[in-house]
Amino acid sequence: MSMQDKTVIITGGSRGMGQRLALKLAAQQANVVVNYRRDDQAAKDTVAEIEALGGTALAVQADVADTAAVESLVAQSVERFGSIDVVVANAAASAFKPLSQIHGRHIDKTMSLTVQGFLDLVRLTTPHMNHGGRVMAVSGWDSFRVLPGHALLGAAKAAMETLVKYLAIELARDHITTVGVCPGPIDTDSFRYYAGDAWEDYAQQWLAQTPSGAYPTPDEVADVMAYLVSPQSAAINGQTIVVDGGLSLATMPIGFGQD
Ligand SMILES: NC(=O)c1ccc[n+]([C@@H]2O[C@H](COP(=O)([O-])OP(=O)(O)OC[C@H]3O[C@@H](n4cnc5c(N)ncnc54)[C@H](OP(=O)(O)O)[C@@H]3O)[C@@H](O)[C@H]2O)c1
Repeated sequence: MSMQDKTVIITGGSRGMGQRLALKLAAQQANVVVNYRRDDQAAKDTVAEIEALGGTALAVQADVADTAAVESLVAQSVERFGSIDVVVANAAASAFKPLSQIHGRHIDKTMSLTVQGFLDLVRLTTPHMNHGGRVMAVSGWDSFRVLPGHALLGAAKAAMETLVKYLAIELARDHITTVGVCPGPIDTDSFRYYAGDAWEDYAQQWLAQTPSGAYPTPDEVADVMAYLVSPQSAAINGQTIVVDGGLSLATMPIGFGQD
């Protein structure tokens, strides 16, 4: 796979799976735009790591829930690198509460980042995309499995997956393809933070249900993402690929019915 001289914008590229993807693409000599919201130090560290790999990166602070900020993110990216090849809508944040405690402000915040932010990115980046451009949405298994407190984010991610299908058709005339990636539970800072004390319990239960015996690491998910933004995967269009080690297949404990 080679992403040499391709320009990739990754929202939420300073931490977690977005950061792992940024490093992998930089190692292939891509120009990487590392977007983040608050944590200047994490973004600076990511750029430093990329430069240590001999890569080129630009850190851009922008809240993807804010259209004016996305305009600035795209403008800065184009000013620095001239055009865009790939945009990865990876940043996410939400209120993790039962639906009975969800109010309009929670809905606005989650949807403006996950759905509006994704569409703002597509609308603003695609005019700058080269032939063979790629849009990637990062969904999550809460879009199709029920996790406590994840209803709102799951609904937003399900919307993203639907948009991936429509974009595959609508962007085809501009020779741009669209793909989604849908991770299962992944051990990132954010997931541990939101799961709190329940993390170890959750992790053990999920592990017991994962046929491969281990759920994917952030690096392994980023490997799949790197493939899905590479020219080698261009034939995948309009699909969202689940990356969960097979966890979501299990309806009974692993080993049930086996000799
Ligand atoms: N971890 C999992 O188990 C899991 C499972 C399924 C799907 N996912 C999805 O995978 C993606 C990455 O998750 P992760 O756990 O690797 O990431 P993460 O550790 O939560 O990283 C969050 C990143 O997003 C940025 N961010 C947050 N809100 C933003 C905003 N409004 N505008 C711009 N940037 C923003 C953060 O920047 P600052 O630090 O500066 O705020 C940071 O760079 C998310 O879409 C998540 O829903 C994760």
